Amino acid sequence: MTRTWTNSSWREHEALQMPVYADEAKLEAVTAKLATYPPLVFAGEARNLTAELAEVAERKAFLLQGGDCAESFAEFGADNIRDSFRVLLQMAVVLTFAARVPVVKVGRVAGQFAKPRSAPTETVDGVELPTYRGDIINGFDFAAEAREPDPERMLQAYMQSAATLNLLRAFATGGYADLHRVQSWNLDFAKGSAETEKFQQLAARISTAVDFMDACGVNPVNSAKLRTVSHYTSHEALLLPYEEALTRIDSTSGQHVAGSGHMIWIGDRTRQPDGAHVEFCRGVMNPLGLKCGPSLAPDELVRLIDILNPSNEAGRITLICRTGAGKVADHLPGWIRAVERAGKKVVWSCDPMHGNTIKSDSGYKTRPFERVLTEVREFFAVHAAEGTYAGGVHFEMTGKDVTECIGGMQQLTSADLSSRYHTACDPRLNSSQALELAFLLAEELESVTPPHRQQAVG
Ligand code: PEP
Ligand code: CO
Repeated sequence: MTRTWTNSSWREHEALQMPVYADEAKLEAVTAKLATYPPLVFAGEARNLTAELAEVAERKAFLLQGGDCAESFAEFGADNIRDSFRVLLQMAVVLTFAARVPVVKVGRVAGQFAKPRSAPTETVDGVELPTYRGDIINGFDFAAEAREPDPERMLQAYMQSAATLNLLRAFATGGYADLHRVQSWNLDFAKGSAETEKFQQLAARISTAVDFMDACGVNPVNSAKLRTVSHYTSHEALLLPYEEALTRIDSTSGQHVAGSGHMIWIGDRTRQPDGAHVEFCRGVMNPLGLKCGPSLAPDELVRLIDILNPSNEAGRITLICRTGAGKVADHLPGWIRAVERAGKKVVWSCDPMHGNTIKSDSGYKTRPFERVLTEVREFFAVHAAEGTYAGGVHFEMTGKDVTECIGGMQQLTSADLSSRYHTACDPRLNSSQALELAFLLAEELESVTPPHRQQAVG
């Protein structure tokens, strides 16, 4: 029999990656205050996202999830929010056109502040300090005071998330997402490359389709679908005192909802079946992501799905696979077969970022564009071979012209990285690399005809 769940039952389980706060009274005062604040999202929205993800599980839609590795207090501002939103929408248009199914858009945004780390401390010039764990926990600067976890940071993260989500909602419905605007992208990055012509042709086909709809009288003035988008937020539910404080009861269903974001996910380092993060997530009704890395055994995956989604509801679970390029075939077929054998309904998504992080010659953490692309292609190939559906992708990216990932048509090299390396954590695709990836993915998707479009000929 399953044990009773409460928003604090995670406290009876081992919680990895959690900061230790020196001032417990301050922690309690902060979480008590957060518990009185309005939730950032409403349960009905989380339900809508589950329903959209159920369409993905049933091969009728595609998931695009992306955004910062870690949002930061220093980089907070309207331009950053707008630029990331725009590139996500542009990618979504390209993918919608190629896949001929709706694209579910989920940002790593408005709450993506807490980071799991591979080591609890870091040493620089003989000085050892706690590692940086995201702005919601401690400061990035390498100084003892900054690295001390401070509960007050949760309040700032909440306020920043609220303001970010407010602007995103305004963009999504206030005219910024108009299809005519969104499809006017800049293909300069592709200039002079062998792919230029192919990308231009695809862009021209999209323009023609928009013109055709216009001519038929379907335009952003009379069709809300061309003027607005649905856009959701997501983050890793790592900092459990924060998640607990923002949990609410949905008055319409009586269910618990994580009020911190629409979708939350469990990281690769905190997915122990009897651990605190799994315990917290099993009790909230939001759609859940589960990061699947190389150490995950197929039977453990099925056990986790049983715990997190006992009623086997489609759209509840998104498996975000992140093995690294060259290793997809070692792990993904085993996971797929176990999930299929158990009859579990899931969305399969590919995170080609976290298994492909390397240290560049110049000392920066980076990700080669080629490896990112290779992992996505391997993911599609394995699903094609298994007869299952590659339903989505998960990227770390930004709308800014940063220099954090090497390669792509811009041919960024490790010597370029120092010029605009702004990430608070892992290296992100810049806007050109993100768009380039969408165009390359479009080629993969165009070759797969969605089942609802497959018609008997004759
Ligand atoms: C992340 O998504 O930023 C992350 C830390 O991922 P993972 O848990 O897959 O390593
Ligand atoms: Co990351």
